[in-house]
Amino acid sequence: MTPRPAVSIAARRRRSLTPPPGSGAPAPQPETSFLITREHRRFAEFADAVRANRYIGACYGPPGIGKTLSARTYAAAADWEAWEARRSVTDSALPDSLLRSRSVVWTPHVTTTPRELDVEVPGICDLFSDAVRARLNPDYDPELTIEVDPGCPYTELLIVDEADRLRTTGLEQLRDYFDRFHLGLILIGMPGLERRLARYPQLYSRIGFAHQYRPLAAPDLAAVLAAYWQLLGHSLNPDSPADASPPSPGSPAATSGSSNGSSGRSAACWTSTTCTPSPPTSSTPPAAPW
Ligand SMILES: Nc1ncnc2c1ncn2[C@@H]1O[C@H](COP(=O)(O)OP(=O)(O)OP(=O)(O)O)[C@@H](O)[C@H]1O
Ligand SMILES: [Mg+2]
Repeated sequence: MTPRPAVSIAARRRRSLTPPPGSGAPAPQPETSFLITREHRRFAEFADAVRANRYIGACYGPPGIGKTLSARTYAAAADWEAWEARRSVTDSALPDSLLRSRSVVWTPHVTTTPRELDVEVPGICDLFSDAVRARLNPDYDPELTIEVDPGCPYTELLIVDEADRLRTTGLEQLRDYFDRFHLGLILIGMPGLERRLARYPQLYSRIGFAHQYRPLAAPDLAAVLAAYWQLLGHSLNPDSPADASPPSPGSPAATSGSSNGSSGRSAACWTSTTCTPSPPTSSTPPAAPW
């Protein structure tokens, strides 16, 4: 689809960049405590594929198994938030992690309105793109530039967490944004998201990859639990049933469950690790892979 030229004015962008208070954006997370697990590597491969092919990807999995942390780690979201918060008072360069990730994470809140989505999504994508562009081209000054450009060329991937919160209009707006600007889009949600998306043929036809985020496998779970126990000043005794329980709320409680909450159908063919789908078309929705 041909991107519609957009007049981007730095001042307007800047106003829309900072999420409004209480917008539901996640508080900065200590990604440093995130352990790189097999599931995270699978997610990263999936995200790489969506980003490289500029598709829409659906990622679904039961609550509390690390979807949000994986997405934030992939996008280096904590680095972005720290840099963005300091940018008006320091002259520090955009971190290398963001040059590599070229990805932003956006989380709608429960009551996000279409108007808020219209401001927040282009706002964060434009801001990020400007920041990367300024880092790559030191002469570029968004404050002095009024330009006509095709959107946010330096933002390659938009990750929408908690996509289940979006209603039909919100999903439609994201599809429209995806069509107009050349970027990949990942929608993250609970099991059932993929079936819900199948009800919107235009959106569904653009889904190139779907990815089931699975609960942590036993060795990864043991490593994550051990790290949490260590944070609390204890060491994990793998033989003690009590130690195999999570040490606090917010810890990977749900990861220890064996149920993955999915329909049980294999997503193997629809994960980026195993298949190269044909390009999506805007006319005929694919047969449901689930
Ligand atoms: N790889 C990991 N390393 C460290 N902690 C982890 C890891 N995976 C999961 N956790 C723990 O699990 C908790 C839940 O993770 P997260 O919020 O990313 O889950 P989620 O799948 O997004 O859940 P929800 O569907 O409810 O949004 C985290 O706060 C963290 O304590
Ligand atoms: Mg989450």
